[in-house]
Amino acid sequence: MKVALAYSGGLDTSVAVRLLQERWNAEVITVSVDVGQNPRELKQIAEKAEKLGALKHVHVDAKREFVEHYVFRSIKANGSYEGYPLSTALARYPIAAKLVEVARREGADAVAHGCTGKGNDQFRFDITISTLAPELRIIAPIRELNLDRKTEITYARKHGIPVPVKRSKPYSIDENLWGRSIEGGRLENPAAIPPEEIYAWTLSPERTPRKPRIIKIGFRRGVPVSLDGRRMSGVKLIQTLNRIAGKYGVGRIELIEDRILGLKARENYEAPAATVLLDAHRGLEQLVLTKQELYFKQLIDTTWADLVYSGLWFDPLRSDLDAFIDATQERVTGEVLVELNRGRCRVVGRSSPHSLYDEELVSFDKYGFDQRDSERVIRFQTMRARILSKRWSRT
Ligand code: ARG
Repeated sequence: MKVALAYSGGLDTSVAVRLLQERWNAEVITVSVDVGQNPRELKQIAEKAEKLGALKHVHVDAKREFVEHYVFRSIKANGSYEGYPLSTALARYPIAAKLVEVARREGADAVAHGCTGKGNDQFRFDITISTLAPELRIIAPIRELNLDRKTEITYARKHGIPVPVKRSKPYSIDENLWGRSIEGGRLENPAAIPPEEIYAWTLSPERTPRKPRIIKIGFRRGVPVSLDGRRMSGVKLIQTLNRIAGKYGVGRIELIEDRILGLKARENYEAPAATVLLDAHRGLEQLVLTKQELYFKQLIDTTWADLVYSGLWFDPLRSDLDAFIDATQERVTGEVLVELNRGRCRVVGRSSPHSLYDEELVSFDKYGFDQRDSERVIRFQTMRARILSKRWSRT
């Protein structure tokens, strides 16, 4: 049997290679998909796979596709699940899709992933694979053998598999351009303060520059296209912004998150670029969309994020919602100024050719319109008040 395994080089997937060979008698093709994780680790992956006796290692660079097909959609939808910018969730879809592509090209009988049976990623992988390639068998060795992390570490040590986690730093980390997720170890106690050692992309506020910095982000039809007046590709813009905003300590997120299975989980994220871009995008929408659009879109955005979180990227409802979202984004073009300061970011200025803001009308200093007209509008509001008051005085 030939199996294509989504391989990250981490503990779960390294153990999975060996288990597939041993217990499933499989020849393993390891597949690594670059969605912007640490390039140093990516380099070692092929080597690691070879050491584990993989039949073949296939590497796919999906950074551009990830940003332009998934992250950009998420920005337009203000993609946030309970405050989580969906970084890991979004990346699972291109990873699963590439895995299926490679499996088909290589004539594999099955695909495999290293997910446990406790988390959300298994839903995203299994649902995507079943949608795109219902004929492919799915094997999840860690889930099927009901292994916990301790048992995995013991197994790895016994089989000469390098264990990337240390007893002192036993974190499970997932990384891509849109963010970094850190779970496990001490973090599992929701009362314990996340230690400084879990952060890799952001400085702690007391180590950030003393002076705030203001950056300018240009949007075109809901997606970011320039930074400080320089046009750049989505990948470059996000990479640059991760660096800049991270230096100002922006993007640390600590959450109690409701997982798909109903468990509450303690989650920590670093997402500097996502934090800035989502704030800036929302700030620009406030300027160009009507009140009615903003209210309704909030409901759509919440449903969109819930689908993406829950593994349902390929559900037709997601593209239905995207049709609405895209229609609203036609006017989301303009520039947003964001101030970065000591771990915080804040929209401090915005402009757009589609702005609905009328300075003349709203200004304290200008004539605008005859204020006496308001009195007639309010007559109707006070009518309601007077009716209610009459009713109350009778009871
Ligand atoms: N809770 C987040 C999510 O469900 C992060 C998951 C991180 N995954 C991981 N394998 N470490 O998207």
